[in-house]
Amino acid sequence: MAVLAWAPGRVNLIGDHTDHTGGLVLPMAIDLGTTVTGERGGDLVVLRSATEPEPAVVPLDIEDPAAASPGWARYVAGVVAEVRPAAGFTGEVETTLPIGAGLSSSAALEVAVAVAIGFESSGLDLAELCQRAEQRASGVPCGIMDQLTSAIGVDGHALRIDCTTLTVQPIPLPDDLEVVVVDSGEPRALAASAYADRAAECQAAQAAIGSLGEASLADLDRIDDQVVRRRARHVLTENRRVDEVAAALVAGDRAALGSAMAASHASLRDDFEVSTPTLDALVDSLGRIDGVIGARLTGAGFGGCVVAMVERGTAMELPQRHWRVRPSGGAFLAKVGIDEVPRP
Ligand code: GLA
Repeated sequence: MAVLAWAPGRVNLIGDHTDHTGGLVLPMAIDLGTTVTGERGGDLVVLRSATEPEPAVVPLDIEDPAAASPGWARYVAGVVAEVRPAAGFTGEVETTLPIGAGLSSSAALEVAVAVAIGFESSGLDLAELCQRAEQRASGVPCGIMDQLTSAIGVDGHALRIDCTTLTVQPIPLPDDLEVVVVDSGEPRALAASAYADRAAECQAAQAAIGSLGEASLADLDRIDDQVVRRRARHVLTENRRVDEVAAALVAGDRAALGSAMAASHASLRDDFEVSTPTLDALVDSLGRIDGVIGARLTGAGFGGCVVAMVERGTAMELPQRHWRVRPSGGAFLAKVGIDEVPRP
């Protein structure tokens, strides 16, 4: 029987580098995503991609996903190693997401593959499985934000996620605002090793003063290492900004939205040090466009994309690739010929 699985990418409105400390995030699933179509059966997972010259061919008993080749097959292998399906799969992958630009193309691939090859459980289980797959495939100790958003996105809403309790509160996006994602064009060099360094610094901060979700700014004085102290200050202040932005969206408070986004970018630049001169210049230039309420780097940083909240209909004539994205629903599976395929 033929199946079709779809999983969206995501953009994070605010709350970056907080998920790996169990903090707060406010991402939304977007109407760009990845589709896997094909048939279950056999003893291999074989996927061809419209954007890749070589297929992914993964045995069901794959042991070391990080060694799979070509590169994109590692993510498929990570999922197969976690799902351990009883039967294989042969099919195609197509995506409307830019690859590796910071819109979670890897999470969308993982979630779509897991659903296509037959993983059936809650959205949270799906997300946790795909997070482990990503960690095994890439070696990056990523948090849960990307996979959870792709798995359980809510149409028309951003998601306030508490990454300790894993409670999710959908926050409606006002109809008169639009979310625009702009690709800096800068490849995310060093992202993997620098991400692991930042995560380790956050762990060092938590070892010194306990959970950053419960610490106060005064507690930061007890961290001797100045770099670790700045990393922790970013997490503390960013957690607060997530709630400021959630409240500002509900109230339609443009001033609060803009200032929290600006403060987030400054904190990621100065305290967490994951911005680049290109991202800073892009945020700055977007901020000068009439109708732009706020802009900040989004995702892991070190290159990649900037997110801007704008008044609906704002003209954005930009030299960079950019997308007006809509908050979308999460992953779904359709049995082709039996179910009507829902439209993202
Ligand atoms: C990457 C990771 C996420 C999150 C962001 C930064 O996208 O996969 O878990 O940590 O970076 O907020």
